[in-house]
Amino acid sequence: MASMILGVGRAPGKVILFGEHAVVYGRPALAVPVTQVQAEAVVEPGEIGAGLTIVAADLGETIAVRAAPADHPLAAAARLTLVKFGLSDPDWRVTVHSTIPIASGMGSGAAVSAAIVRAVVEAGSWKLDCLRSKRGSSPAPPPPCSPADVSALVYEVEQLHHGTPSGIDNTVVVYGQPVYFVRGQPPQMFHIGLPFTLAIADTGIHSPTKVAVGDVRRAWEGEPLRFELLFDRVAAVVEAARSAIAAGQPERLGPLMDENHALLQEISVSSPELDALVAAARGAGALGAKLSGGGRGGNMIALVTEATAPQVADALRAAGAVNVIVSTVRTSDT
Ligand code: MEV
Repeated sequence: MASMILGVGRAPGKVILFGEHAVVYGRPALAVPVTQVQAEAVVEPGEIGAGLTIVAADLGETIAVRAAPADHPLAAAARLTLVKFGLSDPDWRVTVHSTIPIASGMGSGAAVSAAIVRAVVEAGSWKLDCLRSKRGSSPAPPPPCSPADVSALVYEVEQLHHGTPSGIDNTVVVYGQPVYFVRGQPPQMFHIGLPFTLAIADTGIHSPTKVAVGDVRRAWEGEPLRFELLFDRVAAVVEAARSAIAAGQPERLGPLMDENHALLQEISVSSPELDALVAAARGAGALGAKLSGGGRGGNMIALVTEATAPQVADALRAAGAVNVIVSTVRTSDT
């Protein structure tokens, strides 16, 4: 007999267009969802008495939430959501699948958490309705359903992943829209005047954001003035990019990507592999290229056109990319 599905949650991957790392220090950044990759969580009834269990299908891992350490990110996403509902430990099995590469700057951690939160919210709303109808109209906490609620829960989980996240990853994967983000401020969805295309290439090197962010913090503590100036220069690139995108002049983004990559090299989060992919993309006709996300490994992005996309993708593979995604950036109205 087919099992009953109590809740489903999904979230896309993301790339940071401009402003990574500086965004941790209060500067703006631009990020967009990447819908070709996504995380999905499905809640079904589980074994009676087992409590909430998470099956991380791609990792071959099964996590009993009640026994998992407080900082286990998948368990924490489910646990925090249940607490919001005032529910204890329901006998549910949450199966998680993700096609977003792990530790590669594409928001895998945030997207998996968002998928779990949404799936548990759906299952929890259903359970609350059942409890309400059994008890009459007893007051129940409202489900944490809005994007702002989901994003706030995912941000709490992100803090377990890497201490000082800016909040950009949870914001872009939860809202699923291009985001202009400044830490501590409500996110602004930004308009894409004319769609543009990116080649997103993976070095295949896993690089946890936490490590790169921690190294930048130590470097900033050692030379605060130099780093503050670098972050200011990144912020100027972000603002120029935002106006080029809004004006429907994406070709202006190429040199800005190159400039942002050079600043990220100075911030010391690039790597020989990322630099090789950036050079290969430019050599094959990309209008500009940069690393994207935490750096040191993970992904880079190149600005391409429909005509240059195939040759840039080939050059990226030849230069060592383990995967290339070609993705067009647009808002729902473009
Ligand atoms: C990671 O996708 C982006 C970083 O700026 C970290 C953060 O903003 O939390 C490197």
